[in-house]
Amino acid sequence: MEKYFGLIEDALRAYPFGGEPAELYEPIRYVLSLGGKRIRPVLTLMSCEMFDADYEKALFPALGIEVFHNFTLLHDDIMDKAPLRRGQATVHTKWNENIAILSGDVMLVRAYELFAKTNDKYLRTVLQKFNKCAAEVCEGQQYDMNYETEQRIAEEDYLEMIRLKTAVLLATAIEIGAVVGGADEATSSALYDFGINIGLGFQLKDDLLDVYGDSEKFGKRSGGDIIANKKTWLLIKALEKAEGAELRELNKWLDVREFDNKEKVSAVMKIYDNLGVKYLCEFKMNSYFSKAKTIFDSLDLPEEKKIPLRELTQKLMDRQR
Ligand code: IPE
Ligand code: IPE
Ligand code: MG
Ligand code: MG
Ligand code: MG
Repeated sequence: MEKYFGLIEDALRAYPFGGEPAELYEPIRYVLSLGGKRIRPVLTLMSCEMFDADYEKALFPALGIEVFHNFTLLHDDIMDKAPLRRGQATVHTKWNENIAILSGDVMLVRAYELFAKTNDKYLRTVLQKFNKCAAEVCEGQQYDMNYETEQRIAEEDYLEMIRLKTAVLLATAIEIGAVVGGADEATSSALYDFGINIGLGFQLKDDLLDVYGDSEKFGKRSGGDIIANKKTWLLIKALEKAEGAELRELNKWLDVREFDNKEKVSAVMKIYDNLGVKYLCEFKMNSYFSKAKTIFDSLDLPEEKKIPLRELTQKLMDRQR
C-alpha cells in the first residue's frame, strides 16, 4: 500500500497547480495537503499493475482521478454546508464560497491536463471513460440534492443515486488502470463491475460513519447527513420500518425548520437504534463487498497479482475514516 500511496503523494506535492492569484491556487494545495486516503488513484495503480509490472504508466490518469475527486469535494462541501473535511476547515469556510467554486473549477481543468498526459495509445479510450464518469458524478450529486427536499425516496432510487455520485468514480479508477495496463475489454469491464460494487459498499460505509463514526478519525462533522435530511440508506430503512408515534417523531424531525443540531442528531439516532437500521445497513454493505469479491475471484489472473487489490478491498470494508 505504501509504495502506491507514496508515489501519489509525492507527485501531488510536486505538481505545478499554479501560483497567482493565491486565492485561486492556495486552496488546491490546502485540500490536497490534508491527508485524504488516496483510494481512487491507488486503485488505478494496483489495477494497472495486474497487467503490467510498470504501474507508473498509470500515474497521470491516477493523479487526474484524485484531482477530480478533490474538486468534487470542494463543491460538495458547499452544497452540503459542511464545516469539516479531513479534520480541518473546508475551503468555503476557511476562505469563502466563491473561492471554493473557482478553485474547484480550475482543479477540474488541472485534472484534464493530467489525463492528457496519458500514453497516446490509450488516451482516447481513457478520456471517453472518464468523461462518461464525470458527467454521471454530477447527475448523482443532483439527485442527492433533489432528494433532500423529497419526503420519501425508494431504496432503488437511493442505490442509483450513490452508484452515480460515488461508485462510478471508483469503478472508472479501476477500469482506467486496467486499460493503460493493456487489459482486454472483457477484463477491464469486469473490473468496472467489481469497482461499482466496492463503490456502493463504500458509500454505505460513508453513510454509516457519518452517523456512527468518530468525528476525530472520520474528519467530518458527525450527523451532517441527519442535519441536512439526506436520504441515506439508514433514513430510508427507518422510514420504512417506523410505525405510530415513532414514525410521527421521525417525520417531525424531517419537517422542522429551526432546530438544535445536536438535539436533532441524537433524536434521530435514537430512532435508528430502536429500529436496528445500523445492522441492516452493515448487512447491505457487506453484500456489496461480497459481490465485489465474487467478481474479483472469477477473474482469470494469477493469484499473486490479485493480492494488492484484495487487501485494499478488505481495508475499505473495515475502515474507520
Ligand atoms: C469522500 O471520499 C466522498 C465519498 C464518496 C464518500 P473519501 O472517503 O475517499 O475521501 P478522502 O479522499 O479519503 O478524504
Ligand atoms: C459523496 O457524497 C459524493 C461526492 C463527493 C461526489 P457525500 O456528500 O456523502 O461525501 P462526504 O461525506 O461529504 O465526503
Ligand atoms: Mg454530498
Ligand atoms: Mg458531503
Ligand atoms: Mg457522506
